[in-house]
Amino acid sequence: MQNWKITRAPLIKREITVPGDKSISHRAVIIAALSNGSCVIQGFLPSEDCLCTVNALRALGIEIETPERTTLVVHGNKKMFTAPSADIYCGNSGTTMRLLSGILSAQPFNSRLTGDASLSKRPMKRIIEPLSLMGARITALGAGNCPPLIIEGATPKAIEYTLPVASAQVKSAILLAGLYAKGVTTVSEPVQSRDHTERMLGYYLVTSRKENLSISITGGQIPESRDFTVPGDISSAAFWLVAAAAQENSHLLVKDVGLNQTRTGILGVLVRMGAHVREIIEEVEDGEPRGSVEIRGAGLRGTTIHGAEIPNVIDEIPILAVAAALAQGTTIISDAKELRVKETDRISAIATNLKAMGAMVTEKEDGLEIYGGTPLKGARVQSFGDHRIAMAFAIAGMFASGETIIEDVDCVTTSYPGFYETLELVTRKPRQPETPVISSLPPHHPGGHAA
Ligand code: S3P
Repeated sequence: MQNWKITRAPLIKREITVPGDKSISHRAVIIAALSNGSCVIQGFLPSEDCLCTVNALRALGIEIETPERTTLVVHGNKKMFTAPSADIYCGNSGTTMRLLSGILSAQPFNSRLTGDASLSKRPMKRIIEPLSLMGARITALGAGNCPPLIIEGATPKAIEYTLPVASAQVKSAILLAGLYAKGVTTVSEPVQSRDHTERMLGYYLVTSRKENLSISITGGQIPESRDFTVPGDISSAAFWLVAAAAQENSHLLVKDVGLNQTRTGILGVLVRMGAHVREIIEEVEDGEPRGSVEIRGAGLRGTTIHGAEIPNVIDEIPILAVAAALAQGTTIISDAKELRVKETDRISAIATNLKAMGAMVTEKEDGLEIYGGTPLKGARVQSFGDHRIAMAFAIAGMFASGETIIEDVDCVTTSYPGFYETLELVTRKPRQPETPVISSLPPHHPGGHAA
């Protein structure tokens, strides 16, 4: 079990890139596997979570080559898979388990999906219900409809289904099963969740129809094989964006990062908190907007994060809570009960760690109230086995007096291999006289977030 020791960091003036987007990497390899030929996926995130998806697809008979760590050649087999000879291990990855359940529900064989201790406690009723309506028989062996899952596949029936809570994983599972159904499958969500599956299906020439918060897909289509490049992960960039935002006069440029509007809520939140943010979309060619984000730090102030904004920042709440502790005034985060069923109960983990570092915080059933401005002090905090908690509190440690120890950081490899190396780079003291380390973006920004 590895720990990190973090000390106060100097002013940030850097230009960085971040590894490939986790959500998009899962979908790229899955949809390429469903396609009718070979697809080269570049910029793939070689993290534990995404590698679980790769290994699962291999266990289902898909040939996947890895000429480089971030390049995959996926040989699609026209939506056909072979029965696995053993359990499919999904590790820590809810996305692997939930998205693959959609596909496995439609196969003429049975499969059994397992996960690590954290995934084995995560709720699966949300996929069992719609996929059962489509005709699959899914048995959850864990208490409270938790994994392991036994899936007995069947030819799916098309359904119209309204998600009780916004979840891109559940929406995606239904759409992927819908690819095998006769007729039109429609999923409606209460608020917009990330739309990578819809976009990627479109990129692979599968037609779907979007109307407000409903998306419909006609079954029987086979994705057309194509190459795809995964952009950097805005959720990984989020840690550095907050580190820069919370330091007056800091300046950070993140290049080649995904700027899909269902994921960039963090930029709007940081603007409300007082940071100067410039977002430049440079390309949308393959359906996923990508570009650069430039941020200049300022004295942050508290804000309110709730309602339809929550799914857009759901993975960024741990680091936004750290930003809130560093800001002046109160930040209220509500409508975020989903955080209780992530890789750990993130509401409780955030409150515990912030309190350990001297911040004032009240835990609510569906969120947090953070009374910012109390100087953070170094402490020993836990990751709770959750990658985003570990990384968020590494950033908190950069602003704390004394030493902060983050316990059990091995989990960080589930989403961000190389985080610690970037931490070292970002926190390295600039040499004197300072060499320019970043080039500014041009002054105009087409419809991005700016303040
Ligand atoms: C994800 C969707 C979100 C997110 C998770 C990744 C995805 O989960 O929190 O990290 O790739 O579809 P939910 O679908 O449970 O909201």
